[in-house]
Order: sequence, then structure tokens, then C-alpha cells
Amino acid sequence: MTVNDTPGDDLQDAVRRAVGTRAPLFGQLADAGTDCCRLLHGAQEGVPGVTLDRYGTLALLQSFHASVTEAAVDGVRGVLDTLLPGLDLVYNDRSAPGSKVGNRLVGVHRAAAKMDRITREHGVEFHIRARHRGHDPWLFLDLRTTRRAIMDEARGASLLNLFAYTCGVGVAAAVAGARRVLNVDFAESSLALGTENAALNHVTRITTELASDVFPAVRQLAGLRQPSVHRGRRLPSFPRLQPEAFDLVCLDPPLLARSRFGVVDVLRDYQALLKPALGAVSDGGALYCTNNLARVDETEWHAVLRRCAANHGRPIRTLDVIRPGADFPSVDGRPPLKVARLAF
Ligand SMILES: C[S@@+](CC[C@H](N)C(=O)[O-])C[C@H]1O[C@@H](n2cnc3c(N)ncnc32)[C@H](O)[C@@H]1O
Repeated sequence: MTVNDTPGDDLQDAVRRAVGTRAPLFGQLADAGTDCCRLLHGAQEGVPGVTLDRYGTLALLQSFHASVTEAAVDGVRGVLDTLLPGLDLVYNDRSAPGSKVGNRLVGVHRAAAKMDRITREHGVEFHIRARHRGHDPWLFLDLRTTRRAIMDEARGASLLNLFAYTCGVGVAAAVAGARRVLNVDFAESSLALGTENAALNHVTRITTELASDVFPAVRQLAGLRQPSVHRGRRLPSFPRLQPEAFDLVCLDPPLLARSRFGVVDVLRDYQALLKPALGAVSDGGALYCTNNLARVDETEWHAVLRRCAANHGRPIRTLDVIRPGADFPSVDGRPPLKVARLAF
């Protein structure tokens, strides 16, 4: 089944409506030095499993449940040519298992997909390309308001950015005047792009990219013991670090990931990540943590955060909620991405 065969809203109409409702937002974003945002937010705007994002001159259409027909893609192209002229539309069909991009592009569409571009958010520049070795876009747009909040308190601060991916949070903080940023991720190719993002913004003196599993890195920074053997088996080698406390820590994990050093499971065991992260926050510092699993109830997650922090001697002084921007509407007021700023 393809999206345009689905009963209900037609994709073109949904795009026309969604772009129309964002007119006031476009002005605010432009004033803030931002040329990227979500243009259509899936089920929340009548088209389950389909998103449309703008990154500068790129419009990226993605489908996650079913393929969009070529005719429907052309229809979206026509709507954009009228409402937001000058964008190259690229369609990434990610409806196959594993959300991998599955559709072949040819000619001008292939060239548009492979083109290196730059997008801007809050005056910070980021590399962007519709098709690359990975599958996710190089900048997650629902984290924009969190990057903003971190930028607002970054001047003179140190930041530990865990699960850094392309270092969006770290580079934004460095541009906003952070004195030190440590980006940690085990994917060297993502970190390499993070270094390029830092270079694009002339902040490579501030940022350090550390290729490491997050678990041994954050345990060492927190001054906790990181064994080299687990259940009688030697663990892979890992970079050695001295204990260090940071003014700001960003903990933005994937939903589920298993490594030799630990398990990321934001549903059943957020504590496994939170506990060492707490130890890497300085007194008076703040920890930004995210949970992107839709079925996690926000109130229950907050209770887990409070309990875990109290149990480990770092009671939370204030907990502030950060919501995604207006381009991520939520009919029930419960967006999948939950972000909490914990102050100690
Ligand atoms: C959802 S992305 C994080 C997005 C990122 N925080 C941002 O601002 O765009 C998840 C990242 O976690 C990394 N990752 C997953 N498990 C890891 C682990 N155990 N140690 C280090 N990195 C890990 C992946 O390589 C990926 O880059």
C-alpha cells in the first residue's frame, strides 16, 4: 500500500495546510537566524508515517510506514514550488525494515540528494546532505528548542555532550561562548562530521570529539570504577579519562542500544545512564536529559529521574520541561520527545 492509497487526507493537501499554518513561525525562525524546520509532522497533521523537513535549500520528504508514489512526490513538489519556491525536494523512502533509505533516485533528483549543503539554526551552521552513508538526517530538528536553551546558558560554561552524533548540541554551545565542550559518541564517522561542523563555525579550539562508548567515558568522568573485565571476559579497550565535572551535561540517548559496556534502554533502565551522568555534573550545574520513546509517560519518567537522583545523593533542585517548537504540533500535548533540564 502506498501513502496516497491510504484513505483520509491527501498528502498534497496536508502539505499545503501544514505550510500555511507555519507562516508566523517562518518569520520568527528567520529572525532567529534559522532556515530549517519541520514542514509536515506525520500523524499529528493527518499523514501517519510521513514527515517533510526543510534544511535551507533542501526539502526532505521521508516516509516510515509505506512508500509514497512518484505522482504524490511530484504533487508535493508542485505545492512547494508555489508556497516555498527554490527548494530541492528529495524523497527518502524509509518504510523498509530498519528504517533504511530504500528508493533509488536518478538524474537531477540524485544530484540534489548528494549535494553538500549548509543549514542554519540560531545563526549556527551545520552540514546537511539528503543522502549519505547513514539514514537519519544530520540534524534532528525536534531538538532545536533544547539547543536554544543550552546556548542560552552556555557562555563561559563547560559542556559534556553524551551520544553526540554530529555534535549539534556541542557546536551550538561552543558558538554561544562555552569555554570547553566534550562530544562523546562511539561512531567515528558521526564525530568526524561534528568536527567539520565545529570547523564551519570556527570553534574547533573549544570542542573535543571523543570516540568512545559512552558508558566507560561517563563512568570515568564521574570518578566511578570502570572494570576491564566483565563476567570473566576482557572488555574492549577504551580511552582513559580523568574525573571531571561539567557545568552542563546533555544526555540524549537512542531508545535501545546494547554494547559490551552496558545497555541503553530508555523504557526499563534510564537509571543506568542517569546515575553516571549525575556524577559528571558540577555542583550548581544542570543536566539536560531526553526520552524519545512515545509510550514513556512523562510524569512517570520525571519520577524515575527524581528518585534516581535522590538515591545517588544529587537531589534535583528544579526540573524544567522543554517542549519541541511549534513545527512539532502534538494533538494530545504528549510529544514523543520529552526533555527535562535538571538543576542541582
Ligand atoms: C539519537 S542519536 C543522538 C542524537 C544527538 N544527541 C544529537 O544531538 O543529534 C544516538 C547516538 O548514540 C550513539 N550511541 C549509541 N549507543 C552508544 C554507546 N553505547 N556509546 C556511544 N555512543 C552510542 C550513536 O552512534 C548515535 O550517534
